[in-house]
Amino acid sequence: MSRKYLMVGNWKMNQSLSEIETFFKTLNQMGVKYQCDMKLGIAPQAMHISKCLDLVGDTNIVIGSQTCSEFESGAYTGELAPKNLKELGCGFTLIGHSERRTLFGDTDHTINLKTANALSAGLDVILCIGETLEEREAGKTLEVVMSQLEGALTKGEKKIEFTGNQLTIAYEPVWAIGTGKTATPEQAEEVHAAIRKFLIDTYGDMGQNIFILYGGSVKPANVKELLEKPNIDGGLVGGASLKADSFAALSNWNQ
Ligand code: PGA
Repeated sequence: MSRKYLMVGNWKMNQSLSEIETFFKTLNQMGVKYQCDMKLGIAPQAMHISKCLDLVGDTNIVIGSQTCSEFESGAYTGELAPKNLKELGCGFTLIGHSERRTLFGDTDHTINLKTANALSAGLDVILCIGETLEEREAGKTLEVVMSQLEGALTKGEKKIEFTGNQLTIAYEPVWAIGTGKTATPEQAEEVHAAIRKFLIDTYGDMGQNIFILYGGSVKPANVKELLEKPNIDGGLVGGASLKADSFAALSNWNQ
């Protein structure tokens, strides 16, 4: 089994050009680097992707997009074509983040189309899933998460095909995103283990190698207890990924 760890910063609609410059300059000075046992990614705002690619330097951090279009190309004002993200130098795209689902109309159907489109353009996909507080309190967490996985991967209009580590799942309980409330390592591991079972049932041995990230108020103070769980392979981190020292601490969590 070749899984180790993956730490991805989701910058959302944050960071100015000068903050981005400081971020990468500091990480380069600190010697933070993408390594085979700790892969690193950052998803900046789309207009900052090229700037980030220019600044990654020796960190070799992979730069990705926060979303992409379900369409290949054409008259879709404001959309981001996966093939052009790939051409620009993006390595991955997030798909189905809960903010996209609740604020911008992403549905299981469009998430399935976006996933197929991104994978066929050669981008890696980080598929985001997770339940709301109401769903958790109603005891529906696993049901919701399984139905989001099926909607995106196995029951959608498009067949999802991928190889190697092209697909990553990010489990992000909606109630934990940006709230300071993290799922306990046990709560997270319970869901991650169920996701792992789904992946193995669906993809056989390949399911063992798919990274499953946890997201929702991950920070240097709680990263270790989460990543020590057997099915938590890294983090998708918003707020705590914005500053270089904090991102560095997350990347070096086991040193
Ligand atoms: P947070 O965001 O770390 O600020 O909770 C995580 C995410 O939305 O991906």
